[in-house]
Amino acid sequence: MTTAPQHRIVLITGATKGIGLATAGELARAGHTVLIGARDPERGTAAAAGLTARGLDARPVHLDVTDPATAAAAAALITAEYGRLDILVNNAGVAPDWRRTPEELPVEAMREAYETNVFGVVTVTNAMLPLLRESPSGLIGNVSSGLGSLALLSDPDSPFWEHATLLAYNSSKAALNAVTLIYARALRDSGIKVSALEPGYCATDLNGHSGHSSAEEGGRRIARQLGEAATGPTGVFLHPEGGHHSW
Ligand SMILES: NC(=O)c1ccc[n+]([C@@H]2O[C@H](COP(=O)([O-])OP(=O)(O)OC[C@H]3O[C@@H](n4cnc5c(N)ncnc54)[C@H](OP(=O)(O)O)[C@@H]3O)[C@@H](O)[C@H]2O)c1
Repeated sequence: MTTAPQHRIVLITGATKGIGLATAGELARAGHTVLIGARDPERGTAAAAGLTARGLDARPVHLDVTDPATAAAAAALITAEYGRLDILVNNAGVAPDWRRTPEELPVEAMREAYETNVFGVVTVTNAMLPLLRESPSGLIGNVSSGLGSLALLSDPDSPFWEHATLLAYNSSKAALNAVTLIYARALRDSGIKVSALEPGYCATDLNGHSGHSSAEEGGRRIARQLGEAATGPTGVFLHPEGGHHSW
């Protein structure tokens, strides 16, 4: 097996800002081609331009994860331009219940979270699977959270306990964890690996910039975890400080 770094075609959903954009920068600096998934084409163009201005290989791809037509169009574009996809990072996410109690949360907000954090991942994954099957080593990294761990949500001594009341976000990430395991099982014989990743608590728009780490640190962790997921077993939930999360 060669130890030389290999050039990868990478698609990151929700890569216009925050951890997605930081991950894009990390992977592009490592020499990979990074496709900047963006629901707003103008924001996608601006994010990609910030990377190409530094000599990096990045291009915007219009992709609203809640819109299957944009996922199909993105897959058609990647097919035409590259013929394969090596790494899919399902990063796009929303937290409509940040700082709201379960009682205060309209059920529409919960649907919004599931549309993006769960159904969006399924939509994009299914659209990209034919391209991932063309890769010699397809990899799907689902950006989850310790807040989706049932083990941690049920542990009063867990560092996540303070935020364990987020009904929409936490339950959608728990569902995403189950989705991750189901795809890992279903794709086990295909050679495509599927794992859940965790960037750590980062200051981004998603949480009103309350996180302890920067988005850049989160991006470095996701990039490192993608490397671990590529070489390790499928169907794991990686911890930001190394090792594995409890499901
Ligand atoms: N921040 C943390 O502490 C933390 C911890 C654990 C896990 N995470 C996870 O990390 C991921 C990134 O979060 P972040 O903190 O970087 O949040 P963020 O700064 O708010 O970025 C979220 C990204 O998702 C995009 N997005 C939202 N809905 C979308 C849709 N329907 N289609 C396509 N893109 C969409 C946003 O695009 P626009 O620019 O168009 O809004 C943006 O690019 C999320 O999955 C989040 O759950 C974050």
